[in-house]
Amino acid sequence: MTQRRVAVIGAGDMGARHAQHWASSGAQVGVVCDADAARSETLARLHGGEGVTDALEAVRRDDVDAVSICTPTFLHAPITIAALEAGKHVLCEKPIALTLEDARAMEAAARTSGGTLRIGFMRRFDPLWRRVESDARDLGAPVMAQAALAAGIRPKLLMHDARANGGPVIDMACHVFDRWERVFGRPLERVRAVGHTFALHASELAGIEHVALDTVQAELDYGEAGTAQLQLSWGLPRGVPHSERHTYLGPGGMLEVDGGRALLTRSDAEPSVFEPPVVDAWHEEIHAFTRELDGEGPQGLADVQAGIRALRASLAVLEAVRTGEAVDPATLETQGAVA
Ligand SMILES: NC(=O)c1ccc[n+]([C@@H]2O[C@H](COP(=O)([O-])OP(=O)(O)OC[C@H]3O[C@@H](n4cnc5c(N)ncnc54)[C@H](O)[C@@H]3O)[C@@H](O)[C@H]2O)c1
Repeated sequence: MTQRRVAVIGAGDMGARHAQHWASSGAQVGVVCDADAARSETLARLHGGEGVTDALEAVRRDDVDAVSICTPTFLHAPITIAALEAGKHVLCEKPIALTLEDARAMEAAARTSGGTLRIGFMRRFDPLWRRVESDARDLGAPVMAQAALAAGIRPKLLMHDARANGGPVIDMACHVFDRWERVFGRPLERVRAVGHTFALHASELAGIEHVALDTVQAELDYGEAGTAQLQLSWGLPRGVPHSERHTYLGPGGMLEVDGGRALLTRSDAEPSVFEPPVVDAWHEEIHAFTRELDGEGPQGLADVQAGIRALRASLAVLEAVRTGEAVDPATLETQGAVA
């Protein structure tokens, strides 16, 4: 088999990871693209590739077979679509896009492309979240889930920009929604939520015209499978470290997740603690994608539909905050992101 030739688009934190793991999978990272020429050159040099600055040109090159898209989220759709139209395989970082319109356009391009599109929900390859998913399912039904994620103002301002990465309800909660869909085994039916922009007047965000909602508390209804509460903030004072805690209650017991470990207390067993092995989930994800492209069949990466469902859940939360009403995510099909 000839060596797979990859272009990495966006040479920031995610681009560097993708390039490293494509290279370790045996691919040649021949092209690195970033709007910032110095960034693309630096990462390209590390992998013996060429640094370029035009993403649409990069993904259409004849010497590229597969593309990783690691740009800010508002650029995922145009670059993914151009790559798919050129017949390339695409691993697009999460979240799929900011709007359902963009996501649907990506889906349409994937349908007619010879390339495969996958969305980077790398928690699917993280031993902790895999274990949480299976242990939570083992608690029986209904399950009552709770997740609290909190952090100070993010150092990358695009993460607070409603028109760039969309704020935490789109950028961060998508990971949780993707996992909860597996825990509950059915789609989200209704959402109620309240929200705030704690950091609206923070001096750090003064340059952003459309500051995203940074704090929500949401009730999510998964029908007979259970309910979930999400408390999420990126609007705390700068420097507050990221924390994430989950609790799952079910007829079979309780599961607590805190600081990277899971404590399971079941009615029929002694409490047990799961300390996950140290695994780089992006490494696992990209190696799994490589196997899929090599013809070994689906390897558990998120498809475009999973990306759309997670985005729809995020948009339902934002819409519930905006209207004060309960929102059925299925009714959002034609709406865009809420600024
Ligand atoms: N899987 C995860 O858990 C995870 C974690 C962090 C970020 N992400 C996602 O990955 C994406 C990138 O995030 P990041 O943290 O690497 O951001 P980053 O800011 O570190 O890197 C983004 C890069 O894209 C470049 N860029 C901007 N416009 C461009 C254009 N038109 N053409 C080419 N390059 C362009 C920027 O110059 C920058 O170097 C976002 O969608 C984000 O949500 C996913």
